[in-house]
This record gives sequence, structure tokens and C-alpha cells, in this order.
Amino acid sequence: MTESELVLLACPEWRYPAQALAKRLGIACLQTPSDIFPPRYLLYDNAGLALIEHRTIGRKGAVSSSRISCDFVSGAARHRRLYGGGTGQALARAVGLSSGFKPLVADLTAGLGRDGFVLASLGARVIWLERHPIVAALLADGLDRLRTAAAFDRQSRDGGDQHEHVLAEIVARLSFYEQDGRAWLEDGCRRDTPDVIYLDPMFPGRDKSAAVKKEMAAFQELVGGDDDAGKLLDAALKVARYRVVVKRPRGALFLAERKPTFTLEGKTTRFDVYSLAKIPR
Ligand SMILES: C[S@@+](CC[C@H](N)C(=O)[O-])C[C@H]1O[C@@H](n2cnc3c(N)ncnc32)[C@H](O)[C@@H]1O
Repeated sequence: MTESELVLLACPEWRYPAQALAKRLGIACLQTPSDIFPPRYLLYDNAGLALIEHRTIGRKGAVSSSRISCDFVSGAARHRRLYGGGTGQALARAVGLSSGFKPLVADLTAGLGRDGFVLASLGARVIWLERHPIVAALLADGLDRLRTAAAFDRQSRDGGDQHEHVLAEIVARLSFYEQDGRAWLEDGCRRDTPDVIYLDPMFPGRDKSAAVKKEMAAFQELVGGDDDAGKLLDAALKVARYRVVVKRPRGALFLAERKPTFTLEGKTTRFDVYSLAKIPR
């Protein structure tokens, strides 16, 4: 199914923003309940925007469903923010983040924003760049809901509680452009030279039999491979102040066969760090 064959199903309360989004994406907008339930569609309801996929699996035709959306307020993002290991986690160490150095990170392959959100939670200023229109719409929706959660609490409580104060601070550190990361670099980064550039391109050679979660399988099918990631790395190395970090699956070849200065390994992923200058402490 191509992007333009997707439809957006909207529950009645959300039909106006849903219609505006569908128009921008050039896809049809239907109201729920609908007779049409394609195997993959966008859904706009009280929980926000989501990409839904139903797959038939096995000989008995059981249906497995996945829902992809960006939720920075609750669930896994909240859990990782509170209990994820702080600046000791490999992602933070890879970008050089510490109590004495809070870099400006350009996350040029933002996707669903999870890595960038972790970095912003730890004090980095993060600029997200995402070029795929559907992924960008999911990310923009997640960011909107994060802004609402932070602002709502500020207004409704006497100063808000610790949790929402923190959310407001994180939101203030995040910005997002729906744009190609290489074009953004070549346009002069809107005069915001990043300290660190972070890249996590889709990994085309990934073994299909590996335990890729069903959400990620749907995401991969939507986005495809990022075949130009080597060129993005070349461009990033010319612009970043201190380092470029590339996230790869553990055991994968280096991106564009470029050897990094050092690597940090996690259970399933690896961060390849290309050092350009010494990080200030
Ligand atoms: C594997 S996902 C990133 C996941 C992300 N790190 C996260 O934590 O959710 C890769 C994303 O990068 C985007 N992408 C790849 N190359 C890009 C480029 N040159 N400019 C902007 N986005 C790009 C793809 O559209 C895809 O959404």
C-alpha cells in the first residue's frame, strides 16, 4: 500500500483537525464508524493520531493489530524518563551529555522522536528533523499533546506538580521541522549550528526473521529504507561542532563503511561516535 492509498478515519469530535490533516497529506478522510477498514489506516481519536495495522497471521487467519503513535507523556516514554538510567545510559554518553555539558543536538532522523525525547529529558536542546509526511504528522501530534499536558497543568494547578514542571522544561528544549535533514544542513541549519548531530536511519539489511516488534515492522513498511544515509553522514561530519553519532543494530557494518572514533554497545544497538573536537566539561 502506498502513502496516497492510506485513509484517515476520524471520530466525529475530531473531524475538523482530521480533515485539515488529510488535505495536507493528500489522502481521504472518513468519519467513524465507517464501513471501510483497510488493513492499514490513520486514526484520529481522543488518544490522538495513530497508524493502525491489522495483519492476518497463521493458517487459522488470526488477526494481529498494531498501533503506532507518539506518546511522550505516559507509558514507555514516562517510564524511561523516570527510571531509564539518566546520563549513564549509552545514548547520553554517546552524545557526550553530562551534568557539565548539555549539547544542542540535531536529530536528523527523528522518526517517532523517542531518542530525541530521552536526550531532551536529560537536558539537551534537541532539534528534530523528519522528512516522511506521515511520520512527521505522528511526531507533530505527539509534540502537541506533550505541549498540552505541560501547559494544562501549569494553568490548572497552583504552579503544577513536579512531573508537569519537568514536562514544561522538556517542551521548551524541543523544536521540530518537517524537512529533510540534509537539506536543513545545506541551508545553514537556520543559523543554529548543532554541537552534536544524531543519526538513526532505517536499517535496510535487517534480518526479516529477527524479532522486530510488529509495530516496527509496520513502521518499516511505511518508511522503507533510508538509502541516502551515507550522504547524510558526510554532510553531518562537515557541520557538527563536536561529534556525529550514528545508531546501528549491534553487529551491523559501519554506515557507509566509515570507521568511527569509538563505539558504545548496548544489548541490541550500537552507537558509532565520530569525534570532531573535544567535548567541553
Ligand atoms: C529508524 S527511524 C528513527 C527512529 C528514532 N530515532 C526514534 O527514536 O524514534 C528513521 C527515521 O528517519 C527518517 N529519515 C531518514 N533520513 C532522513 C533525512 N535525510 N531527513 C529527515 N528524516 C530522515 C525516516 O523517515 C524515519 O522516520
